[in-house]
Amino acid sequence: MKVLVIGSGGREHALCWKISQSTLVDEVFCAPGNDGMLEDATCIDIKPGDVEYLARFAKSNNIDLTVVGPEAPLVSGLVDVFRENGLKIFGPDRKAAILEGSKAFAKTVMQRYNIPTARFAIFDDPEQARTYVSNVPYKVVVKADGLAAGKGAIVTDGESEAYNAIDRIMVQREFGDAGDKVVIEERLGGQEASFIAISDGENILPMASSQDHKPVYDGDKGPNTGGMGAYSPTPVVDERVYAMVMEDVLYPLVRGMKEIGAPYRGVIYAGLMVDTRLPKVLEFNVRMGDPETQPLLMRLKSDIVPIMLDVASGGSIKNMVLDWDTRAGVCVVMASGGYPGSYEKGKEITGIEEAEKIDGVKVFCSGVERRGNTLLTSGGRVLGVTALGEDIRRAVEKAYDAVGKISFDAVHFRKDIGEKALKRMP
Ligand code: AMP
Ligand code: GLY
Repeated sequence: MKVLVIGSGGREHALCWKISQSTLVDEVFCAPGNDGMLEDATCIDIKPGDVEYLARFAKSNNIDLTVVGPEAPLVSGLVDVFRENGLKIFGPDRKAAILEGSKAFAKTVMQRYNIPTARFAIFDDPEQARTYVSNVPYKVVVKADGLAAGKGAIVTDGESEAYNAIDRIMVQREFGDAGDKVVIEERLGGQEASFIAISDGENILPMASSQDHKPVYDGDKGPNTGGMGAYSPTPVVDERVYAMVMEDVLYPLVRGMKEIGAPYRGVIYAGLMVDTRLPKVLEFNVRMGDPETQPLLMRLKSDIVPIMLDVASGGSIKNMVLDWDTRAGVCVVMASGGYPGSYEKGKEITGIEEAEKIDGVKVFCSGVERRGNTLLTSGGRVLGVTALGEDIRRAVEKAYDAVGKISFDAVHFRKDIGEKALKRMP
């Protein structure tokens, strides 16, 4: 069969790499993909926003399954258009994808179905938002309601910072229409974890747990990024937390979405804050995480294609299981210096082949571009250097060994990926 993956980042490279290993699959296309994934997919120059064009491509090339990587096309209804054209596609439709498209919607669903989350209120008026901040006894996080490329949540440390955040989002409209409304919620303490699962609208097939590293600098300092590294599994999600997420978060959510007429079919990602082993939901994403996907798919031994195909066909995943490599996976993101702010492009990347000679190492590419035989940087997050090791410590060592083989001008990467897990280990 032929599979089309939509997106262009490291997550999509990992998806293409994994899907191309399926015995069911003859050919993998990626739209638009990137020049670092050419061994794993044929890249097609169509943007994820060109929905009609994508559907036409899928039809005329007899694509049997389309898999959507990023959230924006899901939220804007790419899946609906493919289905109207009789094409099989893995991902939630527009009605269900609003779980990520509107934080106000997600919080309202959580409240309605008693899903543990931070206390909150929703405002479309900045004055009322300010009054709320002045009245609550806790520190707050101010979040733009709509999509803001992962940058729309502002964690504040007191009233004046909160007023400033309201101003940036609602008055200066730093995130455009995404800031028509804000969610203001209690700032929680604890450790974050990513809990990613697949649902067919009723049943839930959880993936292994993982942990992202959002801030740009070591020790979680500096502004948030799309994610500077991830590892799996994470000790933050122990057996008790796992059971609570399944019973108190994911099943109520999937039942609730069905009840409100928006059955959820696709990947559901619960961003968690876990404090004293009690998980609360920070956000829902309607797709795999980037970079979490990279270590997760390295660890996944099962073929993921039959599961995606079943969900895309409206079938059941009730009897399906996922088999995981017992080894740990660690991904270190190598980024352009300056990211998530401005950065220079066009720097020559060397050493990827050398890095991949290390057993259990794979380099997933995101912001790269090929000129002749040379690979150049072309984005903020450039590479996801991913390694499997007997435990987190050994996977971390391997990943950083591999990172050491790769270089480009003004490279920046965090040196402490996985450290939180190591601190919790005996
Ligand atoms: P979100 O886009 O809602 O996941 O928020 C982005 C990041 O902001 C999260 O990964 C957390 O690091 C932080 N954050 C969001 N909500 C809260 C909260 N209620 N308490 C503390 N930190 C939060
Ligand atoms: N790594 C965080 C995200 O994909 O949203």
